[in-house]
Amino acid sequence: MGALPKHVYFETYGCQMNVSDTELMRGVLGTAGYVETDDPAAADVLLVNTCAVRDHAEQRIVGRMGELKQHKRTGVVLGVVGCMAQRLGPRLLEQAPHVDLVVGPDGYRGLADLIACAVGGDRRADVTFRPWEHYEDVPPRRGPARAGAFVTVQRGCDYRCTFCVVPMTRGRERSRTLSDVLREVGDLAAAGVTEVTLLGQTVNSYHDGEHDFADLLRAAGAVDGIRRLRFTSPHPNDFTARVVAAMAEVPAVCEHVHLPVQSGSSAVLKRMGRRYDREGYLRCVERLRRAIPQLAITTDIIVGFPGETDDDYRATEGLVREVGFDDAFTFKYSPRDGTGALRLPGAVPDAAAQARLERLIAVVREVARRRNVGLVGGVHEVLVEGVARRGNLLQSRTRTNKVVLVAGLPEWIGTYRTVRLTGTTGSTFTGAPASAGRELAVVG
Ligand code: 5AD
Repeated sequence: MGALPKHVYFETYGCQMNVSDTELMRGVLGTAGYVETDDPAAADVLLVNTCAVRDHAEQRIVGRMGELKQHKRTGVVLGVVGCMAQRLGPRLLEQAPHVDLVVGPDGYRGLADLIACAVGGDRRADVTFRPWEHYEDVPPRRGPARAGAFVTVQRGCDYRCTFCVVPMTRGRERSRTLSDVLREVGDLAAAGVTEVTLLGQTVNSYHDGEHDFADLLRAAGAVDGIRRLRFTSPHPNDFTARVVAAMAEVPAVCEHVHLPVQSGSSAVLKRMGRRYDREGYLRCVERLRRAIPQLAITTDIIVGFPGETDDDYRATEGLVREVGFDDAFTFKYSPRDGTGALRLPGAVPDAAAQARLERLIAVVREVARRRNVGLVGGVHEVLVEGVARRGNLLQSRTRTNKVVLVAGLPEWIGTYRTVRLTGTTGSTFTGAPASAGRELAVVG
């Protein structure tokens, strides 16, 4: 065997949970003596944390793996981890000779051992589900100090939406105990974190056997130093009266919810197995808005689901206008192995699905623009997150999750400021510092 691999390079695709899982893997490998590098050419181990939710996501990763192959000097290990790894398992080792190890979301604890095997030429796949696994004793490594942090509170999913591969890749739903989550949030606050985003596939169904999501919001929101509390993604059916009350009453809980609707047609929702209909979703939105008047709502929508007619599609467009979403992620349906929707008749031709997607994107933009134009002139508290990609402005975020570019000093990064929104592109804003006196006049 050659020298032990020492430098690890990570690439992360997909959702926030994957970002959070990569932080766990950093913890696992950091404890085992690895040093992280952001240069794939300098790495002894390259790990690609993958997404399996749509074929497009997988194809991008396959392409990227082909590029990373060039960094495989003798003894260098290329690993595929995450949901695509779980989905394909040992098949991936057979199909891709340049891949040395395959590890699903429940196998990260064993990474260092599997890497050692791979260095010795023993290519392995670990896709065992471990329903108890919370990585409770693995301290995540979150990289450079930031004001915001993700905290995974629940893994897996017990819903069986017929389009979705996640139950097959992440296994059964389980929640961490409230006390474990609180310990982590407390440690983060002590380290200077002021904004926490709680993560789970259907995060508001959180239940540790004793405490529900309402308890969790109240407890995490009460941790000294936590000024903003966010969560993603909730399921409409799990917004109990207790949860909505906690959202309204806990000052730290931000006025934004990402509430995937998937379709505006009750017939399609039924075939998707979403367990609510159009009216049920609208009632949920109404309850949330009544409790939290400033609430910004974003969503996920799939077009071209099997059997979706023009009328079904128009119902989705109508729902986007009726709710007045602040933003939406829109997707063309992608058939996934092992999901219920594969058996459904009425495949929508790609050209029709593409046309619906393009129309829907335009409608989402128009609706969001109208809402955002109406916000110009208002005063908001923003958290300054970093330097904006272009120009010499800073990028900040309102509690409602709107991006605001402001002129300011680098030392503002990580701090909260009061700004007046001065303009919008339709999606993002420009802002200028507002004096406290004016703020009172406007907000009051
Ligand atoms: N095809 C298209 N979009 C999908 N999503 C999940 N599965 C699929 C699929 N098979 C979308 C849903 C979900 C988001 C994360 O990805 O809108 O909310």
